[in-house]
Amino acid sequence: MEGRELHEAIMELARRRGFFWPSFEIYGGLRGFYTYGNLGTKLKRNIEKAWRRFFVDPHGFLELDTPVLNPLRVFKASGHLEHFKDVMVECLKCHRVFRADHLIEEEAGLEYVEAMGEEAIRRLLREKRIRCPECGGDLGEPQEFLTMFQTQIGPMSGEPGFARPEAAQGMFLNFKLGFHHARERLPFALAQIGKVMRNEISPRRGLLRLREFTIMELELFFDPQEGQCPWFKEVSDESVKLITEEMEAEGFKEPLEVTLGEAVERGYIKTEWQAYFMGVSKRFITYLGVPPERQRFRAHLPEERSHYSTQTYDHEVYLESWGWIEIAGHAYRTDYDLKAHQKASGVDLTVRRADGSRFLPHVVEPSFGLDRLVYVALEVAYRKRDGRTVLALPRWIAPIQVAVMPLVTRDGLPEKAREIWSQLKDAGLTVEYEEKGSIGKRYARQDEIGTPIAVTVDYQTLEDDTVTLRDRDSWRQVRQEASRLPELLRSYINGERGFDELGRPL
Ligand code: GLY
Repeated sequence: MEGRELHEAIMELARRRGFFWPSFEIYGGLRGFYTYGNLGTKLKRNIEKAWRRFFVDPHGFLELDTPVLNPLRVFKASGHLEHFKDVMVECLKCHRVFRADHLIEEEAGLEYVEAMGEEAIRRLLREKRIRCPECGGDLGEPQEFLTMFQTQIGPMSGEPGFARPEAAQGMFLNFKLGFHHARERLPFALAQIGKVMRNEISPRRGLLRLREFTIMELELFFDPQEGQCPWFKEVSDESVKLITEEMEAEGFKEPLEVTLGEAVERGYIKTEWQAYFMGVSKRFITYLGVPPERQRFRAHLPEERSHYSTQTYDHEVYLESWGWIEIAGHAYRTDYDLKAHQKASGVDLTVRRADGSRFLPHVVEPSFGLDRLVYVALEVAYRKRDGRTVLALPRWIAPIQVAVMPLVTRDGLPEKAREIWSQLKDAGLTVEYEEKGSIGKRYARQDEIGTPIAVTVDYQTLEDDTVTLRDRDSWRQVRQEASRLPELLRSYINGERGFDELGRPL
């Protein structure tokens, strides 16, 4: 399955089994908002956990949780008020509104039109004679649209407020306190997982473009005189596929493959600090189940780059449904944000070197859209086997880790199965008890939601306390003593042992 068909199959599965579905449906729905059900919430939480494991924990970085709503002053200083805009066009006949660059991409078969800049967008709309894709009507003049949600803080003449379109500003505003809590030593990072909002002109593709979504963002502060990142050697031999700015400008589509060490040496990536996180990013995304050959990093051209960035690489993943999509941005923000807030607030945000000189730290930022990762993990895991759906999620992110089921619902088997379910739960595993339907149907249901292991209690269990363990991906089975399950399954889910090490083959 590929293309739209695959996307539709995943959206159908997600809804039917309770991963996610469009919000506000009883009121007719509203584009750009999705609600997570039980399995989706669990999957999302496991991806968050994995992100912390790769990005936050290894160096003891600090986490923050800052307000979604910010006063106007913040985004005026940060430059978002001036720059956080997309170009839209309205159909003069049916009055539908479209994001101009996406419309050109779809109607003229071009890629990355945003990177070409506003002038090119205007020209392409004319040259390609683009009309309304819905009714064929003429389009009006393209206009800029501020994609931040605006409200008013407090009643009456309250202060204008904006929902944050990125979590990053929370880290910059709290840089001084964070620095203090990090024992006043560089490098250090502030990280945040939180909701952000963007008033997208025409949200589409389900979870891939939302108006309210979760971002996982990290700002690494370092001394720009310290060109060397002490952790870089951990990833410098990692090979990556790169489309550099020069290649992008000259229209080369095939990425070059280099190690991160070479990429820094040859100047493709401006700083080791950024290259370090690109290496971690590749490992993180591989851990979520995306093979390295389906990953690449693409540099932004100046027109496409955010106002605060001096170099950005998008981490892209290849989807059968939509082709290459961005799942993370790696931006070198320099001291742009701290400088802007220092100027606007009048508060000194500089720090001191050992020699007494003062400076504003520089920043590199890896930023992930969590909802996109949920979709990517599902699509990459989606398989068909004998006409049935199997979600081959890496077992460490599967929403349900183990299903426990009695073969039949009599003769004490349910009681025994519940006992095992309870022990596994107490061991910290996410376990589901299932007794409804034939055993074949129950296996199929668990395969479809990606549960790596099914434990079956049968008549033999009552005699010798052994159970059957079934592997989701190979459908092979092994036999093991029930008392050993908590220890064995915990290490299996963590990836410390293989299925064959779980018992005697059947
Ligand atoms: N901070 C990343 C972004 O705004 O997309």
